[in-house]
Amino acid sequence: MNSDDLSAGQLTGEVLQAYAGTPDPRLRELLSALIRHLHAFATETGLTTQEWMAGIEFLTAVGHKCDPRRQEFILLSDVLGLSSLVEAINAADGATEPTVLGPFYLPGAPRREMGEQIGRMLDGEPTLIRGRVTDTAGKPLAGARLDVWQGNSNGLYDIQDPAQPEFNLRGVFSTGPDGGYSFRTIRPVSYPVPIDGPVGEVFRASGRHNWRAAHVHAIVSAPGHKPVTTHIFDSQNQYLDSDAVFGVRDSLIQEFRLAGPGDPQDVKFVVDVDFVLARS
Ligand code: BEZ
Ligand code: FE
Repeated sequence: MNSDDLSAGQLTGEVLQAYAGTPDPRLRELLSALIRHLHAFATETGLTTQEWMAGIEFLTAVGHKCDPRRQEFILLSDVLGLSSLVEAINAADGATEPTVLGPFYLPGAPRREMGEQIGRMLDGEPTLIRGRVTDTAGKPLAGARLDVWQGNSNGLYDIQDPAQPEFNLRGVFSTGPDGGYSFRTIRPVSYPVPIDGPVGEVFRASGRHNWRAAHVHAIVSAPGHKPVTTHIFDSQNQYLDSDAVFGVRDSLIQEFRLAGPGDPQDVKFVVDVDFVLARS
């Protein structure tokens, strides 16, 4: 920047001043931080006009890719690690760690009985997942709700795959009087996040792979408690250290152990996993 010109710092100060009167205090704080960080980004990198325009065109393409079934902005947030960071910032002390919701959640999954299978025999290797939901003091939470979903062994969720019935591999369960729950599903597999849109360019340009570590999704909730959006990750998966959306937390990695003599005969693997909710 020419020394006769307005300095970068002066310009940033002027812009901040222009927004300093924003009446809503939280919006004022967010706008101020956004301006400071955006300006610092441009200054630090010496952003060129062509690069600025390429960024505008990229974000425009991301917007054009969005429709009611595809949210490319959330995918962009996911692959830049922002969604995972926001979950971590908002985690409750002592509760199960949260992680990304992802784009394949569907509200309205069928309510199912304790132990019920959420998929079909042909979907994959039968697996029993069971445990308890408690509060942070270890007290069992009866009547807690678990909304669980996952893709099948072809790596596709029901909403991506016309060959799967509606709400396949999805279900809503309630805990019993002891806070216990159980459901049958399949052992999850790794699957690639979609790269047929502009976010795919981010993967190609950076040389990153686009695979997610194998997981089962769960939203666990109970009256008077903060709901947790989380995953159950398979400890044997090869992408735990390089998940495409940075969603893995050590505390969420579970062993899918081979079923033994004391286990139900109809499953190949058993996973024991407890969930902890904090008071709201
Ligand atoms: C998923 O877990 O299904 C997912 C999360 C973020 C981006 C794409 C997929
Ligand atoms: Fe997923």
